[in-house]
Amino acid sequence: MGNQELHDELVTLLFAGHETTATAVSWALYWVHKQPEIREKLLSELDRLGELPEPTNIFKLPYLTAVCNETLRIYPVAYITTPREVKQPVELMGYQLEPGTRVYGCIYLTHQREDLYPNPKEFKPERFLERQYTPYEFFPFGGGARRCIGEALAMFEMKLVLATILANYQLELAENQLIKPQRRGVTIGPAGGVKMVLKGRQQN
Ligand code: HEM
Repeated sequence: MGNQELHDELVTLLFAGHETTATAVSWALYWVHKQPEIREKLLSELDRLGELPEPTNIFKLPYLTAVCNETLRIYPVAYITTPREVKQPVELMGYQLEPGTRVYGCIYLTHQREDLYPNPKEFKPERFLERQYTPYEFFPFGGGARRCIGEALAMFEMKLVLATILANYQLELAENQLIKPQRRGVTIGPAGGVKMVLKGRQQN
């Protein structure tokens, strides 16, 4: 690789790979501590794996997966897909689109649809245990040939980081207020960050 290519690869990893996943983990820590019953359920699920669980077994945990999915549903870090450009005239849901038109999938609005996600403003991981969503209904990583290349890594990282923090430390939200999402360029994250207090090590 030349210097320019190396530079571009590193910037992509930092922006597309680090910022996104770190923001998703921050949101997950926020929701899990906002609703202590969710934290308890996660801890008992983790506990059933015994001491020093295999990372691949952590990855497969159903409730942990549901919590990560619900985190990416309610405030998808990337709220729109990258644009697709129309090459030939096409009709899409009654709209006639001409060549050159740019089309963006709005992940946020889809994830807020009341018919798909009743009470969409409520953080409820159980919806992902009760129902299987299609790639047109739930797509935090976009879709098709240009979907996120880092999806598997991001989900793996998110689950392992969350499980490791919860299993080892007792944390509390520093403030009890609702944290609102804030747009940062093409991503959305918690306005002002998620401030937490470390209360000690997790017992057992
Ligand atoms: C929670 C974490 C992440 C989220 C929510 C996320 C979300 C997305 C979304 C929505 C897209 C656009 C896909 C489309 O238009 O269909 C995308 C593209 C992309 N993501 Fe991620 N991403 C995450 C983590 C990562 C990681 C860890 C990496 C790399 C290690 C990464 C690398 C990329 C790259 C290179 C693209 C452009 C793909 C292309 O245009 O072919 N992302 N991501």
